[in-house]
Amino acid sequence: MSERMVDEAEVMEALKRVKDPELNVDIVKLGMVDNLRIDGGRVALTVNLTTPGCPLKAEIEKDVRAALDKVPGVASLDLTMGATVRRSIETPGGLIPDVANTVAIGSGKGGVGKSTVSVNIALAFARSGATVGLMDADMYGPNLVQMMGVKTRPDVVEGKIVPVTTDGLKLMSMAFFLKENEPVIWRGPMLHGAMKQFLGDVMWGKLDYLFIDMPPGTGDVQLTLSQIIPLTGAVLVTTPQEVALSDVRKAAAMFQKVNVPILGVIENMSYFNCPHCGERAEIFGHGGGMRTAEKLDAPFLGEIPIDIRLRQGGDEGRPSVVHDQGSATADAFGGIASKLAAIISVNTYKSLQPELAAGS
Ligand SMILES: Nc1ncnc2c1ncn2[C@@H]1O[C@H](COP(=O)(O)OP(=O)(O)OP(=O)(O)O)[C@@H](O)[C@H]1O
Ligand SMILES: [Mg+2]
Repeated sequence: MSERMVDEAEVMEALKRVKDPELNVDIVKLGMVDNLRIDGGRVALTVNLTTPGCPLKAEIEKDVRAALDKVPGVASLDLTMGATVRRSIETPGGLIPDVANTVAIGSGKGGVGKSTVSVNIALAFARSGATVGLMDADMYGPNLVQMMGVKTRPDVVEGKIVPVTTDGLKLMSMAFFLKENEPVIWRGPMLHGAMKQFLGDVMWGKLDYLFIDMPPGTGDVQLTLSQIIPLTGAVLVTTPQEVALSDVRKAAAMFQKVNVPILGVIENMSYFNCPHCGERAEIFGHGGGMRTAEKLDAPFLGEIPIDIRLRQGGDEGRPSVVHDQGSATADAFGGIASKLAAIISVNTYKSLQPELAAGS
């Protein structure tokens, strides 16, 4: 008995009934379907999501399988779930031409966990399959080399600095070029030059996401950095107490002043689960991050608990997302990363295809 040849038009019709639940637009119109091959009753195709960490991946995959199940003659389906991250930034002057998205991690206040969050979120993105870079823009107190436990130094190839690859991401920091315990004294123009070098003279290569750990405060330095670096947006880190919240609102105002969108707010040191009695203590209060997000009309990305192992991991160069997998803290970072990835995708999509977004 001869096998019925599956009809390509029928396959495409079926795929058009699968929508990206967030954008409410079908996956064919979104250009996600690729590499369709039909051989008798065997169908193979790739669905390219907008980010490898897409939280809707399982749902879309299930919908595609269900849709193709209904197409007459389909005996087997070889489905690859891939991703193509779109570019959200323009880079006048050719700085970082192959970087698709740049995210600054900031806060008004010092010590709220920006660097810790930058490292662990960047790692969570890398673990989801994205190509990731991490830039330490805290030129006065660079911490990321220590926090990631990097012992090597960047090479220079053809006059360009090669970032150090560690735990699957590319890292660049001023700390690579300083002697231990040496203070850094930057004056405005020097800082400007150094930052431009970090963008233009570093071989970042093709990156889906470049995360930028900002220095604390909302002064000239921070303002200048957010102008030099072409930014997709900023993520604000805060702790729950009132004083931190008023500082984070200042940081939001600073980013808004230079037209950098706020992609979301993270509440760090949100609560403490006592390892002995299991009781939850809200040492700095709770919920301030969410209230701030509401006030700023920005998404709330999630909470990170106070976790001794997170602090130890930072000191010892063993980030929790890699070295404490399966912990509540690592899972919290994973959840925040996939939410952030989805927000960036939706924002980019809406700015690139406003007509489709409006019609959805
Ligand atoms: N959720 C947490 N639980 C326990 N310790 C934490 C947590 N978040 C951050 N820390 C610790 O708090 C200290 C400050 O964190 P971090 O350096 O990330 O803050 P920062 O905002 O980058 O600081 P700065 O403003 O100086 O750049 C570090 O020792 C870090 O390990
Ligand atoms: Mg820091």
